[in-house]
Amino acid sequence: MTNLLVTGGAGFIGSNFLNYILEDGEDYNIVNLDKLTYAGNLENLTQIESKKNYHFIKGDIGNYELVNHIFEEFKIQKVINFAAETHVDRSILGSEVFFRTNVIGTNVLLEAAKRFSVEKFLQVSTDEVYGSLGNAGLFTEDTPISPNSPYSSSKASADLMAMSFYRTYGLPVVITRCSNNYGAYQFPEKLIPLMIINALNDKKLPVYGDGMNVRDWIYVIDHNKAVKLALEKGEAGQVYNVGASNEMPNIEIIKLILKRLGKSENLIEYVKDRPGHDRRYAIDSTKIQNELGWKPAFNFEEAIEKTIDWYLGNQVWWQRIISGEYQKYYQLQYEKRNS
Ligand code: NAD
Ligand code: TYD
Repeated sequence: MTNLLVTGGAGFIGSNFLNYILEDGEDYNIVNLDKLTYAGNLENLTQIESKKNYHFIKGDIGNYELVNHIFEEFKIQKVINFAAETHVDRSILGSEVFFRTNVIGTNVLLEAAKRFSVEKFLQVSTDEVYGSLGNAGLFTEDTPISPNSPYSSSKASADLMAMSFYRTYGLPVVITRCSNNYGAYQFPEKLIPLMIINALNDKKLPVYGDGMNVRDWIYVIDHNKAVKLALEKGEAGQVYNVGASNEMPNIEIIKLILKRLGKSENLIEYVKDRPGHDRRYAIDSTKIQNELGWKPAFNFEEAIEKTIDWYLGNQVWWQRIISGEYQKYYQLQYEKRNS
C-alpha cells in the first residue's frame, strides 16, 4: 500500500484518474487535496467517495502549513500534482492566480516532498510549454521550452522548478507533458464540451480566428494510464511526452460534433481570435512508448462518440455547473458532516 497525495483530484483529469485508479485498486491509500475552485467538482467523485482508502481534503496547494501537515499525517510516499489553473482564455484575462497556484503552489509541494523524502513526485504538465509549431514537425522532449500564454508560461515555470529539485536535491521528479485531453467531466469552458453544450442548447458555436488551429487530441483515460505508468515506472529526472497522434483543426471537430448531434452548421460563428493563439500542437510520444511500454488504446472516432454520448446522458451534471448548483454539493456533503 502506497500513501499517495493527488492534488486537483476534483477537476477533469484528476477525477478521471481517481475513478480509474480506485475502481478496483487497493494498492494506494489516496489523499485528494483540492481547493475546489470553479473547476473542482466533487460530484465527479461520488462513485469513490466512500472508499476506505480515499480521503478528501479541501485546501490550497499553496498553503504551506496544510501541505506539510498532510505529508506528516498521511506519511505521503508519492505525489501526483494535477492541481492547476488550466484555462488559457482565463489566463489572458488575469494571470495572477495562474502564477500563484501553478508556480508557487508547485513550489510548496516540492519543498514538502523534499522535506519528507518522497519516493516520486509526478508533475502533470502540458505540451503547451513547447509553444507553437508551424505546419510540420512534432514536439519531442528535447524541444526547447517556449511558452506563449500566461497559462503555459506558468506550467513551464513549474516544470523548470520541479526539475531543479531533481538536479539540486535529488528529489525523484518525473514530468509528463500531455496534449489536449477530452472525455467525461471536462469543464464546459474547453473547446469540446463547450461546443457540445452550445449545440444542444442551439446557441452559437464561437470559433476563434479561422478555425484552422490544430490540437493533438487524446482521450483522458489514455492520458491517465500514462500518468499511472510514469508514477510507477518513470525514471527520476525524466520528461515523458504523452499524445495519441491525432491532430485536428478545431473547425473539423466542431463540424463533427454538429453532425453527430444532428444540428446545423449555421450555428458556427467565427469570432475574434485569441491573442497569442498557438497555431499548432503535435506530440511525439515515442519515448514513453519505448521506455515505459505505454500506448494509446482509444481511437478518436470511438472515444469522441463516447464523450458526446456522455454529455448527452449527463445533462444534469453540466446543467448544475451552468447554473452554479454544483458548488452547493460540497456544503451538503462535507460541511454538514464536519459540524
Ligand atoms: P481542471 O481545471 O479541470 O481541474 C483543476 C483542479 O485543480 C480543480 O479541481 C481545481 O479545484 C484544482 N485546483 C486549482 N487550484 C488549486 C489550488 N491552488 N490548490 C488545490 N487545488 C487546486 O484541469 P484539468 O484539465 O483536469 O488539468 C489537470 C492538470 O493536467 C493540470 O495541471 C493541467 O495543466 C494538466 N493538463 C491538462 C490538459 C488538458 O487538456 N486539460 C492537457 C495536458 C495537461
Ligand atoms: P481550449 O479547449 O481552450 O484548449 P487550449 O487552448 O489549451 O488548447 O481550446 C482548444 C482550441 O479551440 C484552441 O485552438 C482555441 C479554440 N477554441 C475556440 O475556437 N473557441 C472556443 O470557444 C474555445 C474555448 C476554444
